[in-house]
This record gives sequence, structure tokens and C-alpha cells, in this order.
Amino acid sequence: MSDPWVLLHSFPVDRRMWSAQCEALAARGHTAVALDLPGFGAAPRMTREPPSLDGYVDAVLSSLDALAFERVTLVGLSLGGYVALRLAGRAPGRLGSLVLADTRAAADSPEARAGRVLNQGLVRSRGPAALIEKMLPHLLAPEAPESLRATLRAWAAEQSPEGITDALLAMRDRGDATAALGAIRCPTLLLVGARDAITPPAEHAAMGAAIAGSRVEVIEGAGHLSNLERPDAFNDALLRWSARP
Ligand code: MLT
Repeated sequence: MSDPWVLLHSFPVDRRMWSAQCEALAARGHTAVALDLPGFGAAPRMTREPPSLDGYVDAVLSSLDALAFERVTLVGLSLGGYVALRLAGRAPGRLGSLVLADTRAAADSPEARAGRVLNQGLVRSRGPAALIEKMLPHLLAPEAPESLRATLRAWAAEQSPEGITDALLAMRDRGDATAALGAIRCPTLLLVGARDAITPPAEHAAMGAAIAGSRVEVIEGAGHLSNLERPDAFNDALLRWSARP
């Protein structure tokens, strides 16, 4: 019996972004559960003050306990990847394997930190819809379909401003996890869209070099939201991963 899969979403959306992956995994007999991180979708805001990645990890570990999942394959994309990496450091025994997609271990640059503060102001003054409009050109490859842009606009607009501003602070202050990569002992897959402009393939190659025995796969034609842009290729990569010897 394989470990259940738990999937952590990117920013600023919610667990709905994983529906194609959950379906594909379930069709092959896997248990797959996508979680809403605190403050997103149906999940209440985190209680940690100030908001931090550890607040998200607390919530994910509570969910694993509630689901009676002792050990899982944890998949995190972008923000979800930051959380998965932090969880790998705090609770390595809960991971049978790890999939880090379109994410990074490095901390925010000073410019990126300043951008988080500007984005908090944007969300407070003009709401989540204004933030996703600003982000969209960077999130997807240029040839991504208009229908996907519309879906992302709709999902982001439904998130609470407080959940988004909490995440901006948690991401700004997450620190550098590069040193933690060498401590990861579970089998790890790094997946990245070939055209990811936010967390490019070169960063995944570097993370792969730092994680013993990891595998790096590039999803051709996809940007940062590779699972939404090329769901079939992303699903195939997950299924190949689950079938590894
Ligand atoms: C995401 O897709 O989760 C975000 O781009 C992450 C970030 O802003 O660092």
C-alpha cells in the first residue's frame, strides 16, 4: 500500500488548483488529498503571530494527524513548496517522499521583500483581484490559454485579503532554506516548468544537486504554474514517480 499523497497549493489560490492531479492519482488507486493552507479557501487564518511558514506547517501536521496519515508523499508548488521544505526540516519522519514543484530554497532578495510590502498595500487598498492582475504575466507561459487566466482571476478574487497579507508576510520572512536541502533523506522529485519565470529551472537544478539522490524533471512548455498549464505532463511525472523502483 503506497503512502497517501498530500498536495499544498501556491499563492494566492487554494486547493482547487490540484483537482486534475487528485483525479489522476485517484484513478490509479492512490489516496490524494489537497489541503487549503491557513487563510486560503475554506481554512481559517493561522493563529501564529506574526504569520510564518511554521504556522502553515503546524496546520499541515494537524491535518495529517486528523487524517491518520502517518507518512505521506508531500507535494508542494511554489508557496506550497516553501511549506513542504520547512516541514521536511521539522518532521522528516512524516515524509515517505517529497515533490517540490516550481519553488525555491533561497530567501527573498531585498527587492522581493520590498515587493511583498507593496503587495500587502495593494491587497488592502484594491483587493486580491488587483494582486492577481499584477502577478498573472509572471505566473504563466505567454501561450497559456485565456480560460486559465480567467480561472486564476476567479480563484484569487475569492481569497480573503487577510489570508493573502498573512502569506505575503510569511513568505517575506521565510529565510534561506538552502542549508536544509542537504539534510533531506527521503526520495525527492523536483519538477519545474521550462518557462517558469519566477522560480526557473536553473534553481531546481541547483536544489537537485544539493539533495542526495533527487531527480529533476522539466515540464516543457509550462511556466510557473506547471500543474495547471500542462496537467497531463505533470500527472505523468507524478505517476512515474510513484512507480519508481
Ligand atoms: C506562488 O506561486 O506561490 C508565489 O509565486 C510564491 C512567491 O510569491 O514567492
